[in-house]
Parts: sequence; C-alpha cells; structure tokens
Amino acid sequence: MARRAPRLAAPARRPLPGLALLLLALPLAARADCPCEHPALCQPVRHHADYEVFVFDVGQKTWKSYDWSQITTVATFGKYDSELMCYAHSNGARVVLKGDVSVKDITDPTFRASWIAQQLDLAKKQYMDGINIDIEQEVNCSSPEYDALTALVKETTDAFHREIEGSQVTFDVAWSPKHIDRRCYNYSGIADACDFVFVMSYDEQSQVWSECIAAANAPYNQTLSGYDDYIKMGIDPKKIVMGVPWYGYDYPCLKLSEDDKCSIAKVPFRGAPCSDAVGRQVPYKVIMKQVNSSVSGNQWNEDQQAPYYNYKDSSGRFHQVWYDDPRSISLKAAYVQSHGLLGIGMWNANCLDYSGDAAAKQQTKEMWEVLKRKR
Ligand SMILES: *[C@@H]1O[C@H](CO)[C@@H](O)[C@H](O)[C@H]1NC(C)=O
Ligand SMILES: *[C@@H]1O[C@H](CO)[C@@H](O)[C@H](O)[C@H]1NC(C)=O
Ligand SMILES: *[C@@H]1O[C@H](CO)[C@@H](O)[C@H](O)[C@H]1NC(C)=O
Ligand SMILES: *[C@@H]1O[C@H](CO)[C@@H](O)[C@H](O)[C@H]1NC(C)=O
Repeated sequence: MARRAPRLAAPARRPLPGLALLLLALPLAARADCPCEHPALCQPVRHHADYEVFVFDVGQKTWKSYDWSQITTVATFGKYDSELMCYAHSNGARVVLKGDVSVKDITDPTFRASWIAQQLDLAKKQYMDGINIDIEQEVNCSSPEYDALTALVKETTDAFHREIEGSQVTFDVAWSPKHIDRRCYNYSGIADACDFVFVMSYDEQSQVWSECIAAANAPYNQTLSGYDDYIKMGIDPKKIVMGVPWYGYDYPCLKLSEDDKCSIAKVPFRGAPCSDAVGRQVPYKVIMKQVNSSVSGNQWNEDQQAPYYNYKDSSGRFHQVWYDDPRSISLKAAYVQSHGLLGIGMWNANCLDYSGDAAAKQQTKEMWEVLKRKR
C-alpha cells in the first residue's frame, strides 16, 4: 500500500481587509502552541480510509518502528506523546484518545454531557482526531446503564463530529455479542451510533464453562463465530474492525497430560468456574525468545488453529503458552476480506521486538505483513 502523503496544503486565501486579518490572527494565535514542526500537522486528519489498520499503543517510543505505511489510526492508551501525534499526522494517520468512564455515572445526562465536553477539550488541546471508547464493564440487560451506554456513544459521536471535522469515534466490543463477561450492551445501537466497532477477539477464555484446561487466546472457530453473530444482528461489516492479539497466555499447569492437556486451577470470573485470569499475559516478543528452548518446541493445535508450547519453570512445574503468530492470524484475517469487514487491528503494537537483531526484525516484519489487505 502506498504511503499516504501528509496533507500540508494550506487552504486558498483571498486577500483580506485589515479587520478580517485581525480576527484571523486570533485562531492563529491559538494554534501557536502546536508542537509539530509544521503547524499544518496539528490539523485533524479528514481523509477516511476504505481499509482501517487500527493500532493500540501503550506508551514509550516503540511507535517509531511501527509500519506506518499501513496504520490509519493509533489509539493512545499510554501517556500522551505529542511527537507521536505529529508523526502520525505526517503519515495521514489519526491519533485518538482512550475513553473510559464508570457506567454507574452515565445514566445522568448532565454527567454524560460534562464527560463528553472534557474529552473533547482534551482531544482539541492535544490535536487529536477522535476517541476510542473502551468500557468493558458489566452491564445488566434491563438496567438503566444499558440505554445510557448507547446514548453516551451517540452523544460522543455527535459532539466529536460537530467539533472536530473528520474525527472518528469508535467503541471496543467483546469477541462475541453473547453477553461475554456479563456485558449486556445494545451492540447494534452502539455500532449505529459510532463510526465503527473494534472487536476484541482475544481473552476468549475469560469465562471457561467446560473443562478447566489451557486453551488458545483466540481459537479460530470461536473467533469467527463472534463476527458471524455481530453481522447476523444487523451490524454492517463495514462498521466492524477485527482485533487480533499480539500477546498470548502463559498457564501454569496443575497437570500436563500425555496429549498436552494442561489442567489449570479454578479461578472464577463473572460467574464462570475458570478463566484465563489464572494465566499471565505475555507479549509476542517474549514468546519468541522462549519457544525454541521450550520442552515441546512450537506446536500447532488443529482444532483451535493456534500455536502453543510447553516449558518447565525453575521449580519444575510445567507451563503451557498459547499465542498467535503470522499463521494463526492470517487464517483469521482472511475473514476480513471474505466478509468485507472495514479492517484489522491489534492489542497491542508494542508487543513486538523492535530491537535491531536480525531474527527479531524478521519476526516483527512478518507480524505487520499479515495485516495487509490481500488483493
Ligand atoms: C446485575 O444484576 C445482578 C443481579 O440482580 C447484581 O448482582 C449485579 O450487581 C448487577 N450488576 C450491575 C453492574 O449492576
Ligand atoms: C438499541 O438502540 C437503538 C438506538 O437507540 C434502539 O432503537 C433499539 O431499540 C435498541 N435495541 C435494543 C434491543 O434495545
Ligand atoms: C527458532 O526456530 C525457528 C525454526 O526452527 C527458527 O526459524 C528461528 O530463527 C529460531 N529462533 C531463534 C530465536 O533462535
Ligand atoms: C470448526 O468449524 C468447522 C465448520 O463449521 C467444523 O467443521 C469444525 O468441526 C469446527 N472445529 C471445531 C474444533 O470445532
């Protein structure tokens, strides 16, 4: 994909009389604090991509090594970094805020209005292009929070679109609309009310109802059934971005069977008897450093279409690590094309190894490559 040209063109100006010039100086003065090399880079991105590559960034400077030829949006979940904003804008990519609020509070319309005003103010001050709303809280179906959440998304979208031209408002949803983690949300209402939803196709073992054994973070069938269900409820595929994990889970095994079943301790989560909460999240870069020296080496599970390996810790206990790699991700990503989804993204871009070493470089490149739209 061609690198998008930064929009540096200044609007055409007609000669202005003295008074108009004076008035014009006011908004210009307000822009004087633009931290970018070129003031035009503080303007919001207005171009809408027909294919989204939606990236979560959690801080520090790894963003300098991202594949900017692909990125359309960066949701900044770390500390605000004006250098990142300028750089993203110079690549035609949006930078959006993280939006989180207690659902208990949003049933009050006045509270919603002031929360939205605060977010808008922050977005404008930081020259940002929108907001990614990431709630993930429990909501009961017949509670006032249910409709309040849809209203919050609608009101946020209206306000951002009105106040920041071309801005983007998105909402993060669970891997399936079927009340995952007791989140009863009006998914079709929310998707209608914003620009698109980002489906978090990971942490899919947050509620394990069957056998308490370690399993893939995002098993193939389970992941795609989630998208089928969102589309069946009437959400336009063009309003859906697929989220894939760039991290895995390390499970300590109570027992590791001959056929590689790793039984895990029962740690309940939101009503389910066991959960991935018993595991530890590990970034892809750590996994890649460990897999070759593990007891099992890299294995592939056919049912879940996902890689895993077993290793022994210093106390002699077995662990099983489930993760995603270019093979498992490209299988899922094929659905983006076949079902006409808007794009793809990941949690999170920082998880790869951006150091200079040659093997790491190759692994990192392959992970970014998988995101590319196939023609
Ligand atoms: C949802 O309802 C259940 C049962 O009535 C209650 O225990 C729980 O606290 C409620 N959750 C929320 C987030 O309101
Ligand atoms: C979801 O929200 C929309 C828009 O507010 C509304 O029209 C619809 O009735 C809601 N659906 C459900 C199932 O509550
Ligand atoms: C691990 O093994 C694979 C396949 O044999 C190899 O391509 C890769 O370079 C190895 N990685 C490291 C870090 O040694
Ligand atoms: C996955 O789905 C396919 C197609 O529906 C089915 O044939 C297959 O048995 C499923 N695999 C598992 C492990 O559920």
